[in-house]
Amino acid sequence: MYNFLIIESDERVLDLLTQGLGNEFDANIITEFDFDSVEQILNTESVDLVIVRNSFELNMRDIQAAKLLMNLVYDLEKGPPIIVLGEFEFVGQHFDSLPDRFRIEELYRTVIKVLEITPEQIQHFKLPDYVSLAIENFFLIDHAPCDFYIKIVSVDGERFLKRINSQESIDREVIEKYQNNRVRSFYVKKEDHPNLLNHLLQQSLEKIVKVGQSSKSIHEINSETYGISQNLIDAIGVTEHTIRLANASIASMVKSVRGSRNLKSMLEELLSNPSSYAYKRNYLISALCCELAPLMEWGSGDQLDLQIEKMTFFSFFHDIFIKEEQHLKIFSNQQVKELDLQTSELVLNHANKAASLIQSFPRTPGGVDLLIKQHHGTTSGVGFAQNFTTNISPMAIAFIVVEKYAYHILEMKSDDLLSSDKKMEIFNKLYAEFSLPSYRKIVESLEKISIS
Ligand SMILES: [Fe+2]
Repeated sequence: MYNFLIIESDERVLDLLTQGLGNEFDANIITEFDFDSVEQILNTESVDLVIVRNSFELNMRDIQAAKLLMNLVYDLEKGPPIIVLGEFEFVGQHFDSLPDRFRIEELYRTVIKVLEITPEQIQHFKLPDYVSLAIENFFLIDHAPCDFYIKIVSVDGERFLKRINSQESIDREVIEKYQNNRVRSFYVKKEDHPNLLNHLLQQSLEKIVKVGQSSKSIHEINSETYGISQNLIDAIGVTEHTIRLANASIASMVKSVRGSRNLKSMLEELLSNPSSYAYKRNYLISALCCELAPLMEWGSGDQLDLQIEKMTFFSFFHDIFIKEEQHLKIFSNQQVKELDLQTSELVLNHANKAASLIQSFPRTPGGVDLLIKQHHGTTSGVGFAQNFTTNISPMAIAFIVVEKYAYHILEMKSDDLLSSDKKMEIFNKLYAEFSLPSYRKIVESLEKISIS
């Protein structure tokens, strides 16, 4: 089996290339965009081929990925062959390259040439009759380029049922309906697979190129990628850069928890359901925390990056044990009394449980467990504070206010989201609830961000 390393920061392109190359060459795909890890992989694992994007933006920094790779490989005794995606020039090291907007067949052909794969070997990599593609990919499609099937498994074996006809128009709600019914992938006939991949790839690549030229399409990319309505993003007033930063931070968190099966599966469950309340609320919280961070004197440069990383973990893991929307909307011990015994035990202890879970994973940014413990204002991680105090970390204070704000935003009717009057009603509630200066300061900052 081949080992391919793909260095690319765009999750969607990575997904498509992983699926395409994995299927076509029966290859094991390693993906990475952090160069310390790339160096480690090249030194410790046997890599048959590296595919690298010419350059990409990461945490608002321009990373010259292909150039960095060439320098790394130059130091190796025998480096793997390299295919660069996008225009690139480099003297002193051999590589193959493809244009910015390449077709999947061009990549396949280049891989075959570079690895000198024979027609006989290609015969071995036979695709199954139906090939799966994760359902999230279909949010980017407005009409079906081919027939889509779902797989039914019964005692008689597996069957594929056609659900969407070629050329049929698709809207977001249709896909969400399947997603809510726990459909994780659609299937297409193997002969349609390259066409479908190309269809999706061209859209993603075009956006990468466009973003390189202008920042205008950042909104477009991110609202699609994360399934958050643009109205919500506009309502909370965070900037395009912040959304990009929040997305990069989420992507990096996803990578970082790969080492823990437990954390990985819990996070995956949360992120795979963008229409859920938990997802939307946590995403809004993390985006707001990214926007607030530079205003909070939490440091600058690397220090600020670290705080943002911390807040992203905090946002997505603090309520990880609570599955029901109604339980995520509980903010007092009084409300807990209305629950059955088992649920009330869970709700009262969810902060403590999540803190212990996160503490068990060594790659979590330091201090997140303590923040999670304090996210309902208590220092013990049990229950809800009757009165807010300043005995907790300043970051936990900011989080408490941000979470309540996100709660109110999600309770709004979508038509009201851009109404300044309606948003002022929310801020008045927040001012009434949070009277201590350190809490009030956060309300003021949120107001400035949202109503300007
Ligand atoms: Fe909570």
